[in-house]
Amino acid sequence: MNIHIIGGGNLGSAIAIGLAQFTTGNNITVTRRNVQLIENLKQYDIATSADNTAGISRADIVILAIKPWQVDAVLEEILPLVKGKVIASGASGVTVDHLNQKIAGSNVVVRIMPNIAVQYGASATCISAAADDIKNTQTIVELFDKVGTAVIIDEKLMDAATVLGACGTAFALRYIRASMQAGIEIGFDAKTALAIAAQTALGATQMLLQEGAHPEQLIDKVTTPQGCTIAGLNEMEHEGFSSSLIKGIKTSLHKIKG
Ligand SMILES: NC(=O)c1ccc[n+]([C@@H]2O[C@H](COP(=O)([O-])OP(=O)(O)OC[C@H]3O[C@@H](n4cnc5c(N)ncnc54)[C@H](OP(=O)(O)O)[C@@H]3O)[C@@H](O)[C@H]2O)c1
Repeated sequence: MNIHIIGGGNLGSAIAIGLAQFTTGNNITVTRRNVQLIENLKQYDIATSADNTAGISRADIVILAIKPWQVDAVLEEILPLVKGKVIASGASGVTVDHLNQKIAGSNVVVRIMPNIAVQYGASATCISAAADDIKNTQTIVELFDKVGTAVIIDEKLMDAATVLGACGTAFALRYIRASMQAGIEIGFDAKTALAIAAQTALGATQMLLQEGAHPEQLIDKVTTPQGCTIAGLNEMEHEGFSSSLIKGIKTSLHKIKG
């Protein structure tokens, strides 16, 4: 397929590199106005351009990875050249309804919410579309399934998906950073502390996903009665560990809904 990504920033570049690394047979183009900032994408065989319309008429899928307030202007620029194509928008908060009004029925519109781990084939991508277009989202689902996991969700959960899946990357990284800082305090140099904290988080995630278990089942395997793990865990809970995460996620959702 020819995949045309408009907006080579954090998300657009990550999607492009992920697709280049984890799929085969696709031609990928990325555009942004300051095109010199994405020259590095060429090493992955990704074409770059400052012109959003360059080669767009050959595209099978157009992905919008631009800020919400840039969507209308970009659509006006490209619409005459993309009739009938699938347009997948990653712009937070821009609804399928809004996109459909802009394109006036001439395209299949899909909303996507990946995260930047898409670059490493590890995104948790949520996808939604209008009921009439759901059957046409399969190509997008299959594509994002190759760079992590891809699920179709009800559009009313898109803001929640943004918080849990996209903002969630930052939340998980902050957990690792805190573990690293504690690791330094208990005796490791910073590099070793980070390596241990990051690999331990990865290992816990792999166990969880491969065993399909509830986290608490795996926690039970690590907690000896009267041992050091349960003592540390309970102290964290007394200090509001789970509660602060839940409150943070709800605050992010409140913020996104304006
Ligand atoms: N970052 C994430 O983790 C993440 C995850 C999920 C969803 N999102 C959503 O994805 C969208 C992009 O986020 P981001 O973090 O990637 O932002 P970003 O890093 O600022 O990237 C946006 C890119 O769009 C380009 N751009 C702006 N106007 C353009 C135009 N008219 N034509 C072509 N390119 C244009 C900008 O480059 P120039 O100024 O050089 O044109 C910039 O590189 C946002 O709506 C965000 O909410 C982000």
